Formats: sequence, structure tokens, C-alpha cells
Amino acid sequence: MKPIPEAAPQRLAALIGHSVATIDTPALVVDLDAMERNLQKMADYAKAHGVKLRPHGKMHKSAALGLRQMQAGAVGLCVQKTSEAEALAAAGVPNLYISNEVIAPAKLQRVAALARQLQARGGRLAIAVDSLMGIEHLAEALGSGTDLIDVFIELDVGQQRCGVAEPADVLPLAQAIARHPALRLAGLQAYNGRAQHLRTVAERRAALDEVIARVREACRIVEAAGLRLPLVSGAGSGTFGLEASSGVFGELQAGSYLFMDADYARNEVDTAQPQFEHALFVKTQVMSVSQNHVVVDAGHKSHAIESGLPRVHGEALEATGCNDEHTTLRATSSAPLPTLGSTLWLIPGHCDPTVNLHDWMIGVRGGLQAGHVTELIRVDARGCLD
Ligand SMILES: Cc1ncc(COP(=O)(O)O)c(C=O)c1O
Repeated sequence: MKPIPEAAPQRLAALIGHSVATIDTPALVVDLDAMERNLQKMADYAKAHGVKLRPHGKMHKSAALGLRQMQAGAVGLCVQKTSEAEALAAAGVPNLYISNEVIAPAKLQRVAALARQLQARGGRLAIAVDSLMGIEHLAEALGSGTDLIDVFIELDVGQQRCGVAEPADVLPLAQAIARHPALRLAGLQAYNGRAQHLRTVAERRAALDEVIARVREACRIVEAAGLRLPLVSGAGSGTFGLEASSGVFGELQAGSYLFMDADYARNEVDTAQPQFEHALFVKTQVMSVSQNHVVVDAGHKSHAIESGLPRVHGEALEATGCNDEHTTLRATSSAPLPTLGSTLWLIPGHCDPTVNLHDWMIGVRGGLQAGHVTELIRVDARGCLD
């Protein structure tokens, strides 16, 4: 696991209590007021719809934010990697679900150790599987003992990523899990990442119709064989309203809703589910001005661009190019370009990999113009890729 700084550097710690204007650039900044509105909105929505909420922690990689989500009602966090689970558990998150496959026996030893550790603390670890080999390796790593880990069987529901290909393929895996006393058959993992970013509501609805049909079929087949998939878990910030009202999903895994990024902002709004505000920004400064463009001091080492270039918050400017340490902006109206030295706020194209570029997030309250720095949020699982 990557070594993580124990304490915030003095330069960042000194910001607390000072105005937003004192934040040097580039810096990853969280508008805590907006974030908390997002957090509460999703918690209220899940509660009102009678579904559990297990937000994806791969987005913020922060125990402090995960614990805030749990205080508002989330049952735990999802993570994608063993080391992410280790980092968040070490920082105090008691219930974690590795919603992803782990195959290497050495890594499964770590999974087994973490499962026992969390159980001893009154928490719980869960993991996804999509192969008999994965189940056998997991059971070997856990050894003797009963009911040590929750196991979800992943079904491919249209993304063509992980997961067994057909609903009928779920049954042999459910039977294999049931043979191992250390494993508890927890349910079905059914997440379609591609559906989240389909731009129109009609496209997302059509994709989810297919997801829900495949989930129903898997549940029917497993139940007909005398077993049960107690919980169906899935959903992201683009479609969670459809899973929540499906009658088959019992748990939502949305993650991005907490921060929202420029890619999600390109989706057509679905009025059937709550809307969220942008809460994650890269503060940046204009460091060079030309006749038709300006260049700011945050490039793609500060904000991820694999899902598109950032937007510029509240300005008639668009990003037209990006290098390691530079982003080029051009005007989208006849308004004058920003002047040399002025500061701007970028809304990253994709929040998850943006957060992973930073050790700390700077939390502000009172807005991006007149607000103050109130806390520093450590990215506990930064760089946890194994
Ligand atoms: C398995 C799984 N569940 C949930 C999510 C959360 O999706 P989002 O951040 O788009 O809400 C992701 C994101 O990629 C994921 O891979």
C-alpha cells in the first residue's frame, strides 16, 4: 500500500479559518455546503424508497466523508480494491464491500485478514465474485470459521465488464458459495456503468429495463433451485432512481452524486430522481494571456480528463486543450477574457480519478467567493490500486 502522509502539510493546515482567496493554486476544493446538501438528499431518497444506500467510496477515498455518509444512514461503503478497503478500514470505516473481483491468493489472504479484523470490531466485509475459481480461492484464504464474509455474485447486466454472462450462470456460483461455511451468500451484484452516462433519459430507461429483466431472471432461477439471493446491489448516480423503484434492487451504490462532475452534467436531467450540485472544484489561476485564449495553472495532473475536459464554473469560457500542467480556455461569448492572475474554478470531467491525484481536499463553507476554509479532508486511499 502506498505510504500516506499522517498529517496535512503546514502550508495547508495554515489555511484553516482563512478566506477562500488565500488558497494557492492549483488546489482541490470541496464546497462543503453543496456536498452536504447532496449527501442528505441521497440519504433521504434511499430512506423514502425503502432501499439501503452503500455509496461508492472509490469516488472520494476518504474515511471522514464515508463516515459522514454513514451518519446520515448509509449502511457502509463500497470500494473497488483490497488496498482501498484496508485504507478506509484503518481510518475507521467498519462496513466495506469490495464490489469487484479479487483472484490472487496472496491478495485474498489480505481480504481474509481484513474480514476477521472488521468482524472483531463489530463490522463486516463483503466481496464480489464471478467465477468458481474466485470462490475456491476466497474460501481457501478464509480457512475454517463460519460466516466470515458476505459474497455477492456479479452478473453482467449490459456493461460487458466483470460478471457472469447469463442469469443461469449465477446458480452454480450460488451453490458453490453455499457449500463453504466461511462464506455467506449475500446476493447479486448488478451494476451497469455504461448506462450511467447514456445522455437521454429514454436511453437510460431502456438500458435499465434490460438490467432489471436480467436480475429478475437470475433471482427466479436461484430461487427455483431452493436458494435465495437476499439482496440485489448496484446503481450509479445516473440511474439510481430506476433501480430504487424497480422492486428488485435493495441497495444503491451511487458514488459521484456527492461531488458531481462535468461528465454527469452532460446527462439529460431525469426529473424522476433528485438533482445534485457540483461540489468538487479545482481552483486555478490564469498564468498566461494571449489575444484569443488564456492558460491556467492546472493541467491533467490536477484534474482527470479521460471523460472530457473540465467546465469553468460560472464563466463564459470553455476548455479547448489540456497538458500536464496547463489548461487552455477560450471565450464562448463576446465578454472579455479573464485577466492575468485572476482565479477560476474548474469542474473536473470525472471526479473519481481527479480525487486520486490529490493527497488532500480543502473543505470550504460560505461559497467559493466569500467563503472560508473550515477543514482539510485526507484522501486516505489515494493511490490504492492493488
Ligand atoms: C461497481 C460500481 N458501483 C457503483 C459505482 C458508482 O457510480 P457513480 O460514481 O457513477 O455514481 C461505480 C462507479 O464506477 C462502480 O464501478
